[in-house]
Amino acid sequence: MQQQLTPSDGRYPTGPCRSTAHLIGKGRPYFVAADTVGLRAAHGRSTAGRTFVPGADPIDSRSEIIDFVRCSYLGLDNHPVIVAGAIAAIEAKRSTHRSCARTLLDLDLLRELEDTLSNMFCARVLAFSSGVLANMGAMRILALGQLTGGRRPVVVFDRLAHISLAYHKPVVADETRVETIAHNDIGALERLCRENPVVAYVCDGVYSVGGHSPIKELRQLQERYGLFLYIDDAHGLSVVGCQGEGFARSQFPKVLGDRIIIAASLANGFGASGGMLMLGSSDHEAIFRQYSVDYAPVAPNLAAIGAALGSCKIHRSPELSQRQARLAQRIDLFDRRVVTAEQGNSLSIRMIAIGSEANATAVARGLLDAGFYTSVTFVPTAAQGRAGIRVCITAEHEARDIERLCDCILEQVAETTGKPYPLR
Ligand SMILES: Cc1ncc(COP(=O)(O)O)c(C=O)c1O
Repeated sequence: MQQQLTPSDGRYPTGPCRSTAHLIGKGRPYFVAADTVGLRAAHGRSTAGRTFVPGADPIDSRSEIIDFVRCSYLGLDNHPVIVAGAIAAIEAKRSTHRSCARTLLDLDLLRELEDTLSNMFCARVLAFSSGVLANMGAMRILALGQLTGGRRPVVVFDRLAHISLAYHKPVVADETRVETIAHNDIGALERLCRENPVVAYVCDGVYSVGGHSPIKELRQLQERYGLFLYIDDAHGLSVVGCQGEGFARSQFPKVLGDRIIIAASLANGFGASGGMLMLGSSDHEAIFRQYSVDYAPVAPNLAAIGAALGSCKIHRSPELSQRQARLAQRIDLFDRRVVTAEQGNSLSIRMIAIGSEANATAVARGLLDAGFYTSVTFVPTAAQGRAGIRVCITAEHEARDIERLCDCILEQVAETTGKPYPLR
């Protein structure tokens, strides 16, 4: 039965759930500093592999840069099968978009994509035009209790949950109680599970700032208290699992059940475009197909559908494990030279902890001068005084690129801070 709660019951927080103005105020000087030295919004053309030529002048007039910012972890984004898939879908339908809600006229190719992904990932998969939109529709449905038997859950966000989840806290708070807990704080989550009849936890599988959720412990809370899990695995899909099912999905049983949703972008490791939800129940599937605000009007376009179908072919071929193995080898190479908190995990993101925002910006600029584009992270992505540099390792990086990058990181940190890396 639906729990009758409204904000006027006084049981919901009435203050703001986001402090956007505060974060913009704090982060702005660092963004401006990074912009000024050319560390953000670089434009240009990607050439072969992970190389990139900034600007629009003829390619041979400048030196190439190796990028460690793209999240195409298996290097599939410019794979010929994926590009051919996009072109074939447009040619087959002679359009890029059908200009009609999915609930009125659905495309056979889109259903084929959903069926293929469902088979690959042992779940009921719904495709969306982006990961951001998949999350947007889901947060409200979750808050309304539609996924928890009509009972509105207390929705608990991990403090580092991706912005495409955290952004919806005010919408969720319109419907139910919202809590934000420290990163991976299983103790706090268990307390909330003990104190409340229905709890849903919203987190990332693999965090875009490094690290991952403790899936084993989350599964224990699910078994003990019926905790509902909403896990965004945008950075774990394709990288892990024999069908590329991802960091999160690969740690749950074959039958997913009705206490979980795994979301993911199809634009990172998967190498295509769009987003998806892996659902474990036909009831949840029907709810999303009927009520998700972004499911019907903004379906993936034909290029996205064709590209994703192309990527499915690669995911179902021996090439997937070859690329995963190559990625693992590149990650290992990095880990043997540069210590990070992520060292030893099989995931692609490594964070170089620097501390001061000015030093992190200077190190990233030094790396760019040496031919490596990395991303400098600071408020709001990192806490103040905990700035760092994010490195996305991919299967397409050459071993010598990784070795040279590592040497440059060690040199630049020592030169900028006067101390050897890792900084204490
Ligand atoms: C955790 C997470 N969720 C969602 C997204 C957005 O995905 P998309 O680019 O498909 O909208 C991203 C972006 O990489 C992400 O890091």
